[in-house]
Parts: sequence; structure tokens; C-alpha cells
Amino acid sequence: MFSALCQVSRRRNGELSLAGVLLFDGHRFCQWLEGPAAALASVRQSIVEDPRHEFMSVLVDRPQPALRTTPQWQAGYCAADEFDLLLGPDRIDADEAMAIFRGIVTRSDLSP
Ligand SMILES: Cc1cc2nc3c(=O)[nH]c(=O)nc-3n(C[C@H](O)[C@H](O)[C@H](O)COP(=O)(O)O)c2cc1C
Repeated sequence: MFSALCQVSRRRNGELSLAGVLLFDGHRFCQWLEGPAAALASVRQSIVEDPRHEFMSVLVDRPQPALRTTPQWQAGYCAADEFDLLLGPDRIDADEAMAIFRGIVTRSDLSP
């Protein structure tokens, strides 16, 4: 399921000039997406309606400097305890969420 999802996402995001990172720990996803606002809105709506996940929350939604560590879209597996920092019971603010996410990305096994 993850590889099928990655294939479609990589193609469609490329067509829409979106870049980002999708992390998966076997149960939970965490995703960063950046690019033109209209394209983001369209893909976000597709994800909301996708039955392959049950619940979605947006941690950061605002204009800010691009994360683009790479001009493309990447996906990778992530250790569950890394996710717990980001998606744990304690409410974190957007800056904290970004800092944690950047840290996870640098430690994750990402495939281009
Ligand atoms: C957790 C998760 C993340 C996804 N991320 C993307 C993505 O970044 N880009 C994308 O095109 N589709 C992504 N998808 C797949 C979309 O939900 C959708 O299946 C795909 O874009 C095809 O869209 P359509 O059915 O509206 O044509 C994601 C799905 C899930 C469950």
C-alpha cells in the first residue's frame, strides 16, 4: 500500500510542482508538502478523501520559507518513537512541530 501511494504521489506532485516528504512508521503517516497554493489545496482535498487513512490533523499551515531539502518529493519509513514526539498527546505549536519534523527528516531513511 505504501509503495503504491508513493508512486501516485511522486507522479502527481511532480506534475503540480509540489515537493515534500512523507514519513510512515507502519501505522501513522506524517507529511510535509510545499508548493503553489492551488496545487496544495487540490492534493490536500484528495488526501482528506482518501480511505487509506482514518484521521488527519494539520500541524502547520502557513506561508514560510521552503523546506526543500530536495526539489522533489521523498518518502521514507520512520521509527515510531520519532513520531511520538510529533504526534504525542501534548499539544505542540507550529514552530515546535517544524523543528521536530526537520530533525526527523535528517535522521530518516528517505528514498528519492
Ligand atoms: C497519508 C497520505 C498521503 C498522501 N500524499 C499524497 C501526495 O503527497 N500527493 C498525491 O498526489 N497524493 C497523495 N496521496 C494520495 C491521494 O490521497 C490520492 O489517492 C491521489 O492523489 C490520487 O488523487 P485522485 O484520487 O483525486 O485522483 C496521499 C494519501 C495518503 C493516505
